[in-house]
Order: sequence, then structure tokens, then C-alpha cells
Amino acid sequence: MTGASGAILGVRVLMALGHLNVETHLIMSNGPGTRSTPRSSAGILQSYINYAQHVYDIDDMEAGIASGSFRIDGMIVVPCSMKTLAGIHNGLSRRRLVLVTRETPLSEIHLRNMLGVTRPGAVVFPPAPAFYTGQTSVDGLVNRSVARMLQLFDLYTKGAESCDLGYGNVN
Ligand SMILES: Cc1cc2nc3c(=O)[nH]c(=O)nc-3n(C[C@H](O)[C@H](O)[C@H](O)COP(=O)(O)O)c2cc1C
Repeated sequence: MTGASGAILGVRVLMALGHLNVETHLIMSNGPGTRSTPRSSAGILQSYINYAQHVYDIDDMEAGIASGSFRIDGMIVVPCSMKTLAGIHNGLSRRRLVLVTRETPLSEIHLRNMLGVTRPGAVVFPPAPAFYTGQTSVDGLVNRSVARMLQLFDLYTKGAESCDLGYGNVN
């Protein structure tokens, strides 16, 4: 998870993966949107940590998943900042990679970086709300987005549609 806004997407992905009994490993960046703004303090950070099975410090070079030989099915960066998008653009791995990029409007540099990660196989998935589905709540829109993200990993869940954070707004 990066310092882009949209923490609710990351938390909800972790919750949905938990429903599916998928093993999860979480790394949070040091971006200001992740760590030090009022809206991302205490409650949200605690949610990340509660719902992830393994949590690593961003600087932990000895974390298992820092090794290229660590077996994973894929990685989802959610929410994904433009800064992390730019960083990943220059160093892709071969595993399935989905970037839930949250920014608007998109500059030429953003678009070039998106094209750059897409060509070797990553998927750029802006969490654009599916307005046509008749969802009337932010929760409903978020859950539909999360379900679509997980489909990219061949994961299908009803849990993603129904799980509830249990507390107020998360930006
Ligand atoms: C409240 C807040 C919201 C932000 N939202 C976004 C966002 O939606 N998209 C984005 O690309 N950057 C956003 N940023 C800027 C990133 O946090 C910043 O570029 C950071 O350096 C990203 O670093 P990281 O990718 O290592 O987390 C936001 C910053 C703050 C403080």
C-alpha cells in the first residue's frame, strides 16, 4: 500500500482475501498519505495490520518477500501512487502485478509510465467507479471495484461484496 489516497480499497482487498483464505503479506510505504496524515492514522493503520497475515516494515531487507525466490501468486499495489508507479516502471518482476493507480487528471508522464508497465504484462487498474451498476453507496462502489481487482488473480468472492469495515469514512 502506498501513500495515494484510497486506503479503503487496500483494507477491503485484505478483507476479501481473508474471506478467500489467501495468504497475505503487506508492505506499506512511508508516503505521507499512508503514515502521517490525520486521516490515515491509528484506525486505518490498525485495520491494515489486523487484516494482513504478515506485515513487514518498508525498510526490512530481511523480509521473506524481499527475495525474488519467495513463491507468490502475485502482487497488488492498492492504492498505487504515481510515485510508486514511476518506480515500478523501471523494475518489473515476472509475477502477476496489478497497480490500482489513484490519480486524476493523468499527465503525459503518468500515462507513459502506465504504458511502460503494461507492455511487459502488468495491469493498470484505476479504481473507476462502475456507475452503471446502480450502487448508491461508496461502500458498494468500493466492493465492486475490489471484486474486479481480485478477478484479475482468478479469485472470485461474494465476501468482497458483503464485507463491511465497521467504522466510518476511510479516504
Ligand atoms: C492526503 C494525501 C493524499 C494523497 N493522495 C495521492 C493520490 O491519490 N495519488 C497519488 O499519486 N499521490 C497522492 N499523494 C501523494 C503521495 O503520498 C506522495 O507522492 C508520496 O511520496 C508517495 O510515496 P509512496 O508511493 O512511496 O507511498 C497524497 C498525499 C497526501 C498527503
